Amino acid sequence: MSVGNGRTAGAVRADGGATPRVQRPPAEVRYADELARLRAEDTAERPPGWALSLRAARRFILGDEQAGIRRKFVGDPSLIDRALVTLATSRGLMLVGEPGTAKSLLSELLAAAVSGDSTVTIQGGAATTEDQIKYSWNYALLVAEGPSRRSLVPAPLLRGMAEGKVVRFEEITRCPLEVQDCLLSPLSDRVLALPELTDDDAMVFAQEGFNIIATANTRDRGVNEMSSALKRRFNFETVFPIADFDTELTLVVAEAGELLRRSGVTVEPRRDVLEVLVTAFRELRIGQTSHGDAMERLSAVMSTAEAVSVAHAVGLRGWFLRGEPGTAADLVSCLAGTAAKDNPDDLARLRRYLEQQASRRSGGQWKELHTARHQLPG
Ligand SMILES: Nc1ncnc2c1ncn2[C@@H]1O[C@H](COP(=O)(O)OP(=O)(O)O)[C@@H](O)[C@H]1O
Ligand SMILES: [Mg+2]
Repeated sequence: MSVGNGRTAGAVRADGGATPRVQRPPAEVRYADELARLRAEDTAERPPGWALSLRAARRFILGDEQAGIRRKFVGDPSLIDRALVTLATSRGLMLVGEPGTAKSLLSELLAAAVSGDSTVTIQGGAATTEDQIKYSWNYALLVAEGPSRRSLVPAPLLRGMAEGKVVRFEEITRCPLEVQDCLLSPLSDRVLALPELTDDDAMVFAQEGFNIIATANTRDRGVNEMSSALKRRFNFETVFPIADFDTELTLVVAEAGELLRRSGVTVEPRRDVLEVLVTAFRELRIGQTSHGDAMERLSAVMSTAEAVSVAHAVGLRGWFLRGEPGTAADLVSCLAGTAAKDNPDDLARLRRYLEQQASRRSGGQWKELHTARHQLPG
């Protein structure tokens, strides 16, 4: 059965041209050049239905400086190997971890590498229904012609199975449990029943290349409640926050720089400002100063992803308000909205951090951070 993906040519373009520019094109568009080069040079064996070999997919994700392939995910290379091997088996891949540890990014990169398409995606939520996962109907055609393949509107699971692609299921644990369980037979028997249709049309058999990558946040309702039948059909991999300071700083500098360029900012972010930012984020995340002293940690998520978005906001403030890269004073204003959003105690903790910790550090940007502490609201 052929199932169109509903995307029109040019709807997702990286360059924009005369049409409005896409804010964040999917990975296969952002890195189209790299994927094309990897494919052209790829001589290793590929699992059936895959766009790249495992080795080329690994290089796409972890980077290869000599070949000019950018490193996109920072972390344990063996995690990538295990994830890719899982995708070549008949089990799904479940990425679990704290928010902001790049689970979604990794699932996007894996899907782009394996299938050349990361858009076959289900966004899980409390209101997600089976229709949004499997298929629904074009009601005008359904009424006119009755149930048929023509009146069927494929949702991501059906598309992925029919086209032999990786289906991404974001935040699966936010879906009702009985809805999660509709993945059981696609994962175990590789088939989706369409009981409304008859004969050959009543079953969709998964093509080679189909598999599922699900992500789940440990802060949401955990994976513990997931049915054991479904759990058995996934291999679980935990994605951890970046352990090393320099690695995290390098990533934040690179990612914030990229976002700022996309936002029309033509100055680079200041490294000394981002050093203060990353230090503060790490200390507030783990509740310990870089010298090993205990301090209060925030209950808000102080992830690397949050650090990147605050660094972006700092740069935007500096550039669009004053025509220069942002400073640690901008950081104070930007932190208030991130760090103190769901807990007033966090605001008090942040204030104490700026009072007590920032004043002890040497360096101009720490001084600036301390001086700007009064800009915290309340
Ligand atoms: N290990 C990492 N490698 C690359 N980027 C990371 C990493 N950890 C965090 N990030 C940053 O976080 C962003 C992705 O966060 P996201 O995938 O939405 O996290 P999650 O789905 O785990 O909440 C990336 O765009 C990047 O800026
Ligand atoms: Mg996510």
